[in-house]
Amino acid sequence: MDMILAFVFIITKLLLFLFKFSTALDSISPSEFMIDGKTLVSEKGTFELGFFSPGISKKSYLGIWYKNIPVRTIVWVANRRNPINDSSGLLKVDNCSDIVLLSNNTNTVVWSSNSTKKASSPILQLLDSGNLVLRDKNDGRSGLLWQSFDYPCDTMLPGMKIGWDLRAGFDWRLSSWKSSDDPSPGDFTMGIERESNPEVVAWKGSKKHYRSGPWNGVGFSGSTEVKPNPVFYFTFVSNNIEVYYIFNLKSESTVITRLVLNHTTSDRQCYTWNEETQTWVLQVSVPRDHCDNYGLCGANANCIFNAIPVCQCLEKFKPKSPEEWNKMDWSQGCVRNKELDCQKGDGFIKFDGLKLPDATHSWVNKDMNLKECKAKCLGNCSCMAYSNLDIRGGGSGCANWFGDLMDIRLVPGGGQELYIRMHASEIGDREAKANMKIAAIATAVVGLILGTLTISYHVSKEKAKSAENTSSERTENDWKNDTNNGGQKEDMELPLFAFSAIADATNNFSVNNKLGEGGFGPVYRGKLEDGLEIAVKRLSRCSGQGFSEFKNEVILINKLQHRNLVKLLGCCSQREEKMLIYEYMPNRSLDFFIFDETKGRLLDWSRRFNIISGIARGLLYLHQDSRLRIIHRDLKASNVLLDDHMNPKISDFGLARMFVADQTEGDTSRVRLHGTRIRYRWSILSEIRCL
Ligand SMILES: *[C@@H]1O[C@H](CO)[C@@H](O)[C@H](O)[C@H]1NC(C)=O
Ligand SMILES: *[C@@H]1O[C@H](CO)[C@@H](O)[C@H](O)[C@H]1NC(C)=O
Ligand SMILES: *[C@@H]1O[C@H](CO)[C@@H](O)[C@H](O)[C@H]1NC(C)=O
Ligand SMILES: *[C@@H]1O[C@H](CO)[C@@H](O)[C@H](O)[C@H]1NC(C)=O
Ligand SMILES: *[C@@H]1O[C@H](CO)[C@@H](O)[C@H](O)[C@H]1NC(C)=O
Ligand SMILES: *[C@@H]1O[C@H](CO)[C@@H](O)[C@H](O)[C@H]1NC(C)=O
Repeated sequence: MDMILAFVFIITKLLLFLFKFSTALDSISPSEFMIDGKTLVSEKGTFELGFFSPGISKKSYLGIWYKNIPVRTIVWVANRRNPINDSSGLLKVDNCSDIVLLSNNTNTVVWSSNSTKKASSPILQLLDSGNLVLRDKNDGRSGLLWQSFDYPCDTMLPGMKIGWDLRAGFDWRLSSWKSSDDPSPGDFTMGIERESNPEVVAWKGSKKHYRSGPWNGVGFSGSTEVKPNPVFYFTFVSNNIEVYYIFNLKSESTVITRLVLNHTTSDRQCYTWNEETQTWVLQVSVPRDHCDNYGLCGANANCIFNAIPVCQCLEKFKPKSPEEWNKMDWSQGCVRNKELDCQKGDGFIKFDGLKLPDATHSWVNKDMNLKECKAKCLGNCSCMAYSNLDIRGGGSGCANWFGDLMDIRLVPGGGQELYIRMHASEIGDREAKANMKIAAIATAVVGLILGTLTISYHVSKEKAKSAENTSSERTENDWKNDTNNGGQKEDMELPLFAFSAIADATNNFSVNNKLGEGGFGPVYRGKLEDGLEIAVKRLSRCSGQGFSEFKNEVILINKLQHRNLVKLLGCCSQREEKMLIYEYMPNRSLDFFIFDETKGRLLDWSRRFNIISGIARGLLYLHQDSRLRIIHRDLKASNVLLDDHMNPKISDFGLARMFVADQTEGDTSRVRLHGTRIRYRWSILSEIRCL
């Protein structure tokens, strides 16, 4: 009996042993080693540690990559500077709690972890976060001796910190590879500049390349607001022990994402993995535009992305060298129109929507309010500007800047208030001007009201006249003729934009502003002088849509007002060019989400339901409730746009035709079309069931 038990015991042990070796290991202890050709795989199979040779290089490096992503993507390299020349690499943990990488051929150590902490039974383990850790087997969670997250390469993974550990002396900083064949540190790096007011900075060599602007409690001053989202959250911590930023995935999110310093473009790029296309998709890249390039406009100037020229002196400042400035060399920046006079008393002018200046020469206090902050700045003749530190809850804290104000830009849809010191005489001037402006506006408004009253009186008289002429039984053809011949009058109700204003707003129809290509031509994103964001549909000359169709769309859409229909702001026509100006929809169109696995996850059940109901309400309005009873005839996902709250808005009425009230059953072909579009809506529903 005992024999049998012992036998069973041995067999079980043996099976367990075999099993352990037939599945991949995730750890090494001091008696074991890993040679070139073998790998460690994290417990859930997310990451893999092993030897690799990058690009065309024949040298061997120890690195970590995604196990299940067919595009080999290295996220960390141990011996970046010191490759192994052959395939004799050997990784082990020595009895001094050091991770050691050897070339067994030459018997030289090419890399070691230099762990300062020692333990009696160390174990090296690859975690599912992509972190390689050396820990004390006998000391649970706290026994961390060393981790690869403390030695970032070019990639930031969720859960990794970039910044400083002041106690342990870590400077967690990303550095790009030299080239795709050489992972040794290139000259593009990114970390946190630990000044009084810390911010994220990217350097090229020793020169600043990009800065994020200081943290304002919600985000970095220079970045556009990160909206709450189901995928990740972002934290910035600054105290006596640590200064860092970190991003983490929400627990329900399964998105695979990484930030990487790209050695060819010198951009920090954020990629997500798309299962369907099996590619990395670029989500965000900084610098976002040329205004993000550090100090483009020199001192005391403002960079305005869609202005021409992009650099403009701050109000009450003038170019230091007008000659160079006019040649578009802005590096010398701007100087004051009128020098400060600290003794006689200066004042401040408030600027808004800015990325705050370089915080290298600044002073901060977390407890002061804005009034105390102003007094503090006034009390020091070299203080040039002040602002709140934290913009939450009406603002708190105080930052003072000394010397020239560097690297300011206008942040579209964001930015902060900054109070800049001025000679006392400059301030009165501005207030006086503001008062004059108000007076001028008031006169204009009164004029406008009087003018409108007169015009509308005339128009209503005209309308009454034409109504008398129109027969009560209008057919579709009649309507067409009506719009072709008598359209002029209706056009008057619609704002007409100048071609030059639209060209300016879209950066001269720059490729960067292009949102996509519709059936009738390209669509551009733009920003009018007053800051309003627009989408411009530029009708191509060779498209089927002629002048009459153009007018159809203009007149139709302008008559239809519903919150699930895209709003037409106006049109623009110059010679052959015809353009429609719509409100801009920040979240693009529905197809962008539902046909993309990664983005599709952003649409949960309630959002999808909301979108479907919105489309239905929009259609109901078109079909029944609107004065003009319209069938869209080309309703598809790419024609359903989404606003910033993901509310659907139906667009593109270019093909819409009047559906005359007493002809509802008349044209069968049209009714059939109607049916297929309804089926289309069900396909959105089936999308939901797949989730
Ligand atoms: C690899 O070769 C280079 C150049 O020949 C040499 O300097 C280096 O020490 C070698 N490395 C190892 C680990 O043998
Ligand atoms: C490590 O092991 C070597 C022999 O393998 C031994 O000579 C050395 O004393 C050990 N070091 C420690 C710290 O135990
Ligand atoms: C390392 O090299 C020695 C001698 O060159 C050899 O005996 C040993 O098997 C090698 N170790 C491994 C793990 O390949
Ligand atoms: C470990 O120490 C050696 C010698 O002091 C140094 O060359 C090497 O870069 C250090 N390794 C790490 C990972 O810090
Ligand atoms: C760097 O960026 C370019 C352009 O976005 C891209 O084509 C390239 O693949 C990127 N390189 C790496 C290593 O990600
Ligand atoms: C003004 O501020 C600067 C920078 O913080 C400081 O060096 C200088 O001593 C201050 N001067 C006065 C008069 O407080």
